[in-house]
Parts: sequence; structure tokens; C-alpha cells
Amino acid sequence: MKQINIGILGLGTVGTGIAKMLLENADLITARLGARLVLKKAADIDLEKDRGIRFDHGVLTADALSVINDPEIDIVLEMIGGETIAKEFIVQAINNGKHIVTANKALLASSGNDLFQLAAKKGVTIAFEPSVGGCMPIIKTIRESLAGNRIGSVSGILNGTCNYILSKITNEGVSFEDALAEAQKEGFAEADPTLDIEGLDTAHKLAIISAIAFGTKINLKDIYVEGISRVTAMDIAFADQCGYRIKLLAITKQNGDAVEARIHPTMIPFTNPLSNVNGSLNAVTLTGDAVGEMMLYGHGAGMMPTASAAVSDIMDIARDMLFGARTRVPMLSFQMENIRQLPIQPIDDICTYYYVRFSAIDQPGVLSKISGILGEHNISIKSVHQYEQKLNGTVPIFMLTHQAREAEIQKALEKISAMDTIMNSPTLIRIEGEL
Ligand code: HSE
Repeated sequence: MKQINIGILGLGTVGTGIAKMLLENADLITARLGARLVLKKAADIDLEKDRGIRFDHGVLTADALSVINDPEIDIVLEMIGGETIAKEFIVQAINNGKHIVTANKALLASSGNDLFQLAAKKGVTIAFEPSVGGCMPIIKTIRESLAGNRIGSVSGILNGTCNYILSKITNEGVSFEDALAEAQKEGFAEADPTLDIEGLDTAHKLAIISAIAFGTKINLKDIYVEGISRVTAMDIAFADQCGYRIKLLAITKQNGDAVEARIHPTMIPFTNPLSNVNGSLNAVTLTGDAVGEMMLYGHGAGMMPTASAAVSDIMDIARDMLFGARTRVPMLSFQMENIRQLPIQPIDDICTYYYVRFSAIDQPGVLSKISGILGEHNISIKSVHQYEQKLNGTVPIFMLTHQAREAEIQKALEKISAMDTIMNSPTLIRIEGEL
């Protein structure tokens, strides 16, 4: 029976999960593949740690280069993370003719264009299903299942930590800080949780999704990114009363020859299935011209769900190898020569519905002045709510608007913020889908 040799760089949570799956499900994988996947080497700086796995003699090593330079290893799994040493190892492995599987969304978002070019030149594959959405087969779905579709949009919850925090505040009244601490304890928050909270982790994933959905280069820097740190329990409670949930949504759409790509807290109606995705789960809705709307849902992080995505990538590469094929499915879903550089629309140009909250001194004329400014900017108010309850001498005023242009609402909010009767900067949350 044919044998394909695997080397793992990094035995952290995901690397360990992959080793476990390769060893524990070896018979099943062989039965499906018609060849044996052999874990030949696994490198980590910590060789003492008990990972609950019985590695064969000689598999564990502290020397990453002995994996990359082993002529018998066919596929290298980069599970180190970060953008420095991981990149060096990937480049060297590609130059040595190895195929790569990586979960490194930050690296692909920043250097993916070059790495994919290099891989194509060397005739090897970089597979990256575990980099986005854990076990959810979002890459494979866009690249293979929807290969004949013109993709219209992809919207989703791609960060388990943020979803966990927002769900805990919404459903259990837990504070932001306590919910974050629990997410860190559960192990799905990034080592630096500001990457989660401020939306950058989601941006890495959206940059990859936009590229494969629309055949454009990976473009992280132009994505609009706003995290959840300014969302308050008051906004969540108000949204709930109006029939909305607040989620950190990653949204990408193709608008003619441009792409919309943005991440921000978003109010979505209870009727949107994404509103019921709770805890650390991820979910994505996609639209395609043939399929209409479809949805994926599952664990976006964690040892075995992410390992599952990596092992499926290994098996795809192994199948190519067994049939003498070379990157049969294009890495970025389009042939390299057909990948364009579509611009990302500035956030100022988007049109959507808005929720805004002001902290105002409760006196005559405040509301009429606010609505006057909104009117000057062509913003039509859908509803206004003011509650008696005072907070530090101010009352909260909540407004929902009809569709408006972002640039106009931003200008209006700047003028409203300058009013003597308005304290603190207003809160703005974009709404996707009217009730
Ligand atoms: N920190 C990420 C999350 C892990 O919370 O979803 C998976 O990328």
C-alpha cells in the first residue's frame, strides 16, 4: 500500500489534534484514501509535555528543520502561528518541494499572495481550510461545491471569542470582562485577545474568504474593521426589544468591479438564522446565483474541529499525489492567472440601516435639533425611543434609521456630537436586514 509522509511543525492545540486524528483514525483514513498517512515527524520546542499521544520512536523532535529538510516528508503542516518563523519555515518547505497545510490566517492575510505564487511556481499546494472557521468547510464550499456559481455575498460569524462574549451578555447578563475571561479559559481566544475583540482575527479570515469568493488578491489592509469593545449591555437590551441580536459580522459582497468587505458589530433580525448562533460557534451564510442562500455552521476553533479541517486538507493533497495530479483544485479557487486586484469599497460608500444612541441632557429642543441635523444629511428616522431613566444626568436616546449612506451618517454624527446637550460620542451600529 502506498504511504504518504506527514510532518507537523508545532504541537500546540491544533497540531496535537492533528496528530491524534492521524493516529486514532488511521484505519478509517486509509480505508477512504486507499493509502496510509504516516506521521513521520512532529516538531515542538516542548518535548516533555504529556499530550496524551503515544508517538512512535523518533517522531518527536525539537528540530523543525529536520522536518522541512526530510526528503521523505511529502506534506508539512505549519501549526506554529505568527508571521515570522512560520513564514520562513513555509517558504523553505515549499522550496524543498513540500505541500503545505496551514491554519495561519494572519500569515495568509498578510503574505498569502506571495506564498501562493511561490507554491504555484514550485508546483506544490498550500491548503488552508483550518485557517477559517475551524471545522466549517467554508473554503471547500466556495472553491468546490459552488465552483459553478457566481458568489454574491458571504456574511458570517467568524470569531468564537466575540460570539461567546456577545452571547453571554445577551443571554446570561454576564459582564464583558467576565465573558472574555471565560473565553480565555475555554482556550479559543487568541494569545492576544485584542486580536479577537477588535476584529482583526475576523479580518484575517474575511480577507481569505473575499479572495476565493471573488477571484481577487488577498487584501487585508482595505477591509473596514471595528470590534465589539464599544458594544454595551444597553445596546444589546435595546436591540433585543426591537427584535434584533448584535453579532460581530464579517460581510463581503461583490458590487460590480469592486468588493465590499467590512467587519463590525451588526444588528440582525431574529429571523436571520445567524442571530441564533450562540456561544463560540461560527456560522456563515453564502449566496450564489444558482444555489440562492445557503448556510454553514459549526465549531470555529478548538482542537479536534480544527484538526478535522486540516486532516481533510491532507487527504485532498494526498489524493492529488496518488493520481499524479498537481493542485487539481486551484488553491484560491481561481487559476492564478485569472486572479485580479478588485478594489475594496471605502466604508463611506456603503448604504445600510443604522441604530444610533445618544446620551443627551433632557431639555426641550434636543430631539428636534438631532432630527434636523439627520434630515440635512438625507437620513430618514424610522423610530425614536427615549427613556426617563437618567444616567449621570443624561438620558439615552435610541434611534433606528431607514437606509442611509455611511458618509452622511458619519457627518451628521459629528455635528450632533458637537451639540452642548450631547454628552459622550454617539454609538452607531449598522443593521443588516430590515424587520
Ligand atoms: N480566536 C479565534 C476565535 C480562534 O475566537 O474564533 C479561531 O480562529
